[in-house]
Amino acid sequence: MNIVDSPRIIKIPETTSTSSYLREYLSEHPLPEGSVVMAGFQTAGRGQPGNSWESDAGQNLLFSTFISPGVVPANRQFIISRIAALSVREALSRYVEDITIKWPNDIYWKEKKICGMLIENDLTGASIYRSILGIGINVNQEVFRSDAPNPVSLKQITGITYDLEEILHQFLQRFYGYYLDLLQGKEEEISHTYMERLFRGSGYHPFREAGRLFEACIHTIEPTGHLILEEKSGKRTRYAFKEVSFVL
Ligand code: BTN
Repeated sequence: MNIVDSPRIIKIPETTSTSSYLREYLSEHPLPEGSVVMAGFQTAGRGQPGNSWESDAGQNLLFSTFISPGVVPANRQFIISRIAALSVREALSRYVEDITIKWPNDIYWKEKKICGMLIENDLTGASIYRSILGIGINVNQEVFRSDAPNPVSLKQITGITYDLEEILHQFLQRFYGYYLDLLQGKEEEISHTYMERLFRGSGYHPFREAGRLFEACIHTIEPTGHLILEEKSGKRTRYAFKEVSFVL
């Protein structure tokens, strides 16, 4: 990480999507790694492919940040999801218990989704030139109207109204720490911690694959991000994101 310039925090009332805004901004102005664009409202918040992201104005933490981790080979890019997910999990665990990481990088409180992330990696050859991380944390919104299956906010859990910037700083402090760990070659340690924090990380649970319902446990998650599930018969299968889903 560039330790000469401090990361900047750019706050804007409204944009289409903080990730799109940051990408455009970076094409015209260089920024130190770890800089953030935070918005009060997104008119076209982007979710995982095919989805939008619902958030009432001023209620939730909507931001994007970026890193330029030239050391990360493209075929090990999932380490970036791991550090982002661990950082959100630890930040939110300051406020409530039972926060876990649902593969690949949703953050759950119990059986409900409290945070979603969209990670866009730009590659040059075999390594990652830049990674833009877009993160939406449900903080103070009391009612969700979209058809998102199971959203929850911190306020719905505790009844308390939170300061959005304080949560952002809780995240950034951890994210910069994990990023330095990554640059110092601590990938194994990070991956181990990620496995310990997984939603349904131990025991057998129901999954769905193209209409087939089955029970399996999480055997491992590869550096590419593929999930390896093991059924009671011992059969192991490797899945890419969207090829399998948890039955909630
Ligand atoms: C998901 O579908 O789970 C990913 C949601 C990601 C939402 C965040 S909100 C801030 C950033 N800007 C976007 O347009 N999307 C991400």
